[in-house]
Amino acid sequence: MAYQTIKVDTAVGPVGAIITGVDISKPLSALAVKEINAAWLEHHVVFFRDQSLTPTQQADFAANFGDLDVYPFMTAVDSNPNVIPIIKEADAELNFGGAWHTDTSYVERPPKATVLYAVEVPDTGGDTLFADATQAFHDLSDGLKNILESESGIYSPKLVHGREGSYKQAAARSEMAKDYGGAEDFAEQEVEHPLIRTHIDTGEKSVYCSLPHTHRIKGWTREESIPLFKHLTEICTQDKYVTRFKWQQGSLAMWDNRCVFHNALNDYQGMRRHMHRVIVQGERPQ
Ligand code: OGA
Ligand code: MN
Repeated sequence: MAYQTIKVDTAVGPVGAIITGVDISKPLSALAVKEINAAWLEHHVVFFRDQSLTPTQQADFAANFGDLDVYPFMTAVDSNPNVIPIIKEADAELNFGGAWHTDTSYVERPPKATVLYAVEVPDTGGDTLFADATQAFHDLSDGLKNILESESGIYSPKLVHGREGSYKQAAARSEMAKDYGGAEDFAEQEVEHPLIRTHIDTGEKSVYCSLPHTHRIKGWTREESIPLFKHLTEICTQDKYVTRFKWQQGSLAMWDNRCVFHNALNDYQGMRRHMHRVIVQGERPQ
């Protein structure tokens, strides 16, 4: 596709594209928004470098693509209610998002986009991996596709945020935000979604279930379900589907949670990493 307002470079890996030629701290023309959205739908993740964004400028950029959503488990920065800080302190062990997942897939209407901006990055490490769940689904055998499409999943935040969850325990060690207050009951709730979802804009199918968020296949036990989720995760995150993004201060990534998995590498022990995160409302997975 020929773009007038941006340049789109796909030499970043199997999924995603780097967009240059635009300062996203400023209000964008309707055409620029349309072109960025088109590149995002085509490539599933778009990256920008060398941006300089206040929380409100980041939120305003994200709001070009839909109404902003509120993440239920952390408190926003003071200057903007839609921006949450994702911070791993130098002495923390657990990081946020350090397993293959798509964001908040355990709510009824998970966010379609996540917009993540690097405020402070470690000298080495802290890359994020992105896997193309559309291409991975496409490459599955018809036999496995049929099984997955005929089943649904029970998704729940409890595996990470619930009473027994790893984030809850990290919060107790003061390594993560403590404000789980009103969200306690919500953290145990369950919602049914397909294992394979069809993208509302592109019509493409993608693998959607993930180990941290899909508690089980409906009608199966968790013990029965885990081996299939593990197997699918392994298949969908082979190198041929994965782009590794190296952050610099001022980098921004916007990914499509309906068709891409991501995984934040936790390989920078002893160093601090500080990101700002905004999410854009999505629709109920179909
Ligand atoms: C997220 C997430 C990845 C990262 O913000 O949803 O998974 O690299 N973060 O911090
Ligand atoms: Mn995430």
